Amino acid sequence: MNLELNALINGELINNGDWLEIISPINNKPYGRVPALKEKEINEAFKWARQSQKEWSNLTLFERISYLQKWAKLLESHKTELAKIMAHEIGKSLKDGQVEVERSIEYIDYTIEEAKRVFPETLTGDGWNIKNKLGIFSRVPKGVILAISPFNYPVNLSIAKIVPSLVVGNTVVFKPATNGSLTGLYMAKLAFEVGFPKGVFNVVTGRGRDIGDLLVLNPEIDVISFTGSVAVGNHIRKLGHGKYLVLELGGKDPALVLKDADLTKAVKEIVAGAYAYSGQRCTAVKRVLVDETIADELVKLLKIEVSKLEAGSPLDNKAIIPVIDLKAADFVQGLIDDALVKKATLILGNQRKDNLISATLIDHVTSEMRLAWEEPFGPVLPIIRCKNVEEMITLANKSNFKLQACIFTKDINAALNIANELETGTVNINGRTQRGPDSFPFFGINDSGQGVQGIRETINSVTRFKGLVINY
Ligand code: NAP
Ligand code: G3P
Repeated sequence: MNLELNALINGELINNGDWLEIISPINNKPYGRVPALKEKEINEAFKWARQSQKEWSNLTLFERISYLQKWAKLLESHKTELAKIMAHEIGKSLKDGQVEVERSIEYIDYTIEEAKRVFPETLTGDGWNIKNKLGIFSRVPKGVILAISPFNYPVNLSIAKIVPSLVVGNTVVFKPATNGSLTGLYMAKLAFEVGFPKGVFNVVTGRGRDIGDLLVLNPEIDVISFTGSVAVGNHIRKLGHGKYLVLELGGKDPALVLKDADLTKAVKEIVAGAYAYSGQRCTAVKRVLVDETIADELVKLLKIEVSKLEAGSPLDNKAIIPVIDLKAADFVQGLIDDALVKKATLILGNQRKDNLISATLIDHVTSEMRLAWEEPFGPVLPIIRCKNVEEMITLANKSNFKLQACIFTKDINAALNIANELETGTVNINGRTQRGPDSFPFFGINDSGQGVQGIRETINSVTRFKGLVINY
């Protein structure tokens, strides 16, 4: 056992004597442990979050910013440790882990700047024969925010919820994914060193299936910001808690490759988009819809690039790393097996050792195969050959996941027309699907989520208008 970290409740680093082992995807052995909190500690976290909120929001913006800047400095000076923990508990390469911390620090800077520009709207009465009114509509914090993050970006996707909430005067209860908890609690330890006022920032750990409903149904919550799977997201939607809900869920992002595409560029973008972090990204390219007249050439070029992706340990910065656990690997394997049984063509990969699956490329995938529709969250990319652009659009739109899509073509008019037809959150032209930069609004619809994240957008979701009308 390497690492044991405590939860953060009301400014104290605590545990309750019950522990949850964190199993490393590198060797499927325990890497550390975190507290398995129960109802008592969870209710305490919300109680203190509520009690401290008013005082926190009464600080000046610059006072709140100074705490966040100190935290950002500590994250920066501990980025090597954070990357090491991520490598062990979620299998992210050391290099990518450092980039994730750097990206998140940039996000904090950006959020701080944006928070300085949250100005009230001032309106004069000008209707109903009313002229003698001056309305001032300010944004005020909603109160207590519950942030729940997934395993794949334990720093970035938590910072993106916590920092916009805190900067405008909310308090936060943050529950990281179990694999991701050590990273979350290491960030909590750094926050403890900063010395945020008691109760303002709380981090609770435990298995989602054990404590999820306890968290979501706590009456102190004003906003729930959740990122994770569609199954858990839909469960939260249905719980009837009546809270404001922001959901970032799964994806099945298509890459549409048209006849006239620059194939060298398309291949580079598709490979990076599909296989980075072994495909464990909501925004990964998860299917290629290609014009059948250029499919052979595209597959040939993809094969060359995909064969360069070495599988191995995140500690050696390998491109393809073990997926999060054996169950996830079995799921990916199930999708591959189903496609191959139904006569898809294996171009490359499908080598497996425990949860390390080599980069897998499968051609001639059809609508009858699960791989055409389900989100693998693993290093496998299906190629679906299409007769024409209309078929590509139909297949793209048929998925219930609607996060992003990308189109590769030299014809900008065609790209704009297709983008118009695609029912999805965001369309990238001649570039892979991607959330970053984090300053862009980020959102999915249907099974991919509800609400919008970003910088200004997240600030808007954790604040509400408060009006003041001066009659003169
Ligand atoms: P997950 O299994 O849904 O878990 C996400 C979070 O929810 C974890 O903290 C988990 O805790 C918690 N949880 C589990 N059951 C819960 C319940 N009943 N109530 C409340 N919380 C509960 O997802 P994941 O495997 O970590 O992440 C992969 C999924 O996230 C993929 O589908 C991916 O596409 C999606 N994702 C989406 C975005 C986006 O921005 N759209 C970004 C990243 C990931 P435990 O870990 O303790 O179970
Ligand atoms: O899957 C999480 C999402 O935030 C990924 O970000 O920039 O790698 O597309 P990005």
